[in-house]
Amino acid sequence: MKSKIILALLAVTLVGTASAQVKPEDAIKWRQSGYGFMAWNMARIKASVEGTYNKDEVIKAANAIQMVATSGMGALYLPGTDKGTGWEKTRAKPEIWTEKEKIGKAAMNLTKEANEMVTVAAAGDAAATKVQLGKLGSTCKGCHDDFKSKL
Ligand code: HEC
Repeated sequence: MKSKIILALLAVTLVGTASAQVKPEDAIKWRQSGYGFMAWNMARIKASVEGTYNKDEVIKAANAIQMVATSGMGALYLPGTDKGTGWEKTRAKPEIWTEKEKIGKAAMNLTKEANEMVTVAAAGDAAATKVQLGKLGSTCKGCHDDFKSKL
């Protein structure tokens, strides 16, 4: 009986801390930062594909995108953060919170192509990198079309 009460109290404390930890404006900032950081790394790969191919650059950039893509950014879509300002006013559409299955699929597509980008980068072939960059980029665009509002 006593241990049950302690467990219940512990659960309340844990839930309390988890929601108190991330402020809405921080959640918005951090997700915007994650996307911005991926955009930089996409640009690095693009530069390699369009200019002189630099295998090390492409590997670093692919690893960075994979890291962000698999970091669990979904946790930053706290309830109520469909409105608010991080680095800028959020462009997250309200559908993110209602079309869970669809956004989950979009996130999985990103992860899949980001993982593949790492494999392709390791092989160091410019033509294959270009093809994979296109596939990866279309997962960004696909999600933006549905879930990111234009300014
Ligand atoms: C699962 C959906 C999803 C995927 C996949 C996705 N994005 Fe986004 N992206 C968003 C949403 C939603 C926002 C708006 C976030 C906000 O303002 O709160 C955003 C915002 C951005 C921004 C603007 C950041 C800012 O400063 O406001 C950039 C740049 C961006 N994404 C790049 C990318 C790139 C590059 C990829 C692919 C490598 C990508 N995104 C993949 C949903 C996605």
